[in-house]
Amino acid sequence: MADIAKRLSTNIDGNFFVDATCINCDTCRQLAPKSFVENGEYSSIYRQPETEAENFQAYQALLACPVGSIGALVPDKAVMRAAIESFPMLIEDNVFYNGFNSEKSFGANSYFIRHPDGNWLVDAPRYMKKLVDAFGRMGGIAYIFLTHEDDIGDAPRYAKHFHAKRVIHRADADAQPDAEWIIDGLDTVEASPDFRIIPVPGHTDGSMALLYRNRYLFTGDHMAWDREINGLRLATVYVWKESALRRSAEKLLEFPFEWILPGHGDRMHLPADRMREELQLLLARREARASISAT
Ligand code: SF4
Ligand SMILES: [Fe+2]
Repeated sequence: MADIAKRLSTNIDGNFFVDATCINCDTCRQLAPKSFVENGEYSSIYRQPETEAENFQAYQALLACPVGSIGALVPDKAVMRAAIESFPMLIEDNVFYNGFNSEKSFGANSYFIRHPDGNWLVDAPRYMKKLVDAFGRMGGIAYIFLTHEDDIGDAPRYAKHFHAKRVIHRADADAQPDAEWIIDGLDTVEASPDFRIIPVPGHTDGSMALLYRNRYLFTGDHMAWDREINGLRLATVYVWKESALRRSAEKLLEFPFEWILPGHGDRMHLPADRMREELQLLLARREARASISAT
């Protein structure tokens, strides 16, 4: 619960506010960009919601905030209930964003894929009845794909409840040593005709991406859309090995994809050829940067 006594002075006056417990995870800025902005080391409200849609998004942000830093002075219970019901939120096809980001994964986004051969959870949200029931109604969870060691969240509890197999790379497996499926090495694993597991070391030694139907690429913290540059970016902080990060980005040129669905950072949908161009641009920017720092 947000605390009005800790309200940040950077908030514009009005119903919504952010308090000083904010961990600057970016979730609210992704869900309600018309209301939330980064301000120093925190988020704050720069514009109170003016439309029904903006108000709804602000409530979604309030619910998804991993540390309860967002408050509403006069909560609208009906809108709040509708916002709770909006999670898991359909992105497209059978792909959902779960909401209810977990503090244990520093507020990383998690996703759910509904599939006739068994559903996949990509990283894990907070463990809560609302989501357990929703996943159960959609057929449970067969696999929990862990992009890397930072974003485990409540995966063990979901795995136990649904008897799901947790998938993690051996290099990051210390974070989940009893995972049911350990991936080794750098080779792509064809988990099924629709799912490919692509090791992408760089942010961590054992980072992995999941490619679903050659259309949806779940990237963990390896790569995301950057709203500042309006382009792709690689992990910027906590990089295990810079050279591996770049090689892993190059490797993704082999695969067609239209959606990028990261743990931290913005989602983006572009036609596959445009996404490939963006990846090439990203690599060119990295090359230019590397040659400047070498001189
Ligand atoms: S979602 Fe919560 S913790 Fe994350 S940036 Fe927004 S207010 Fe801060
Ligand atoms: Fe991470």
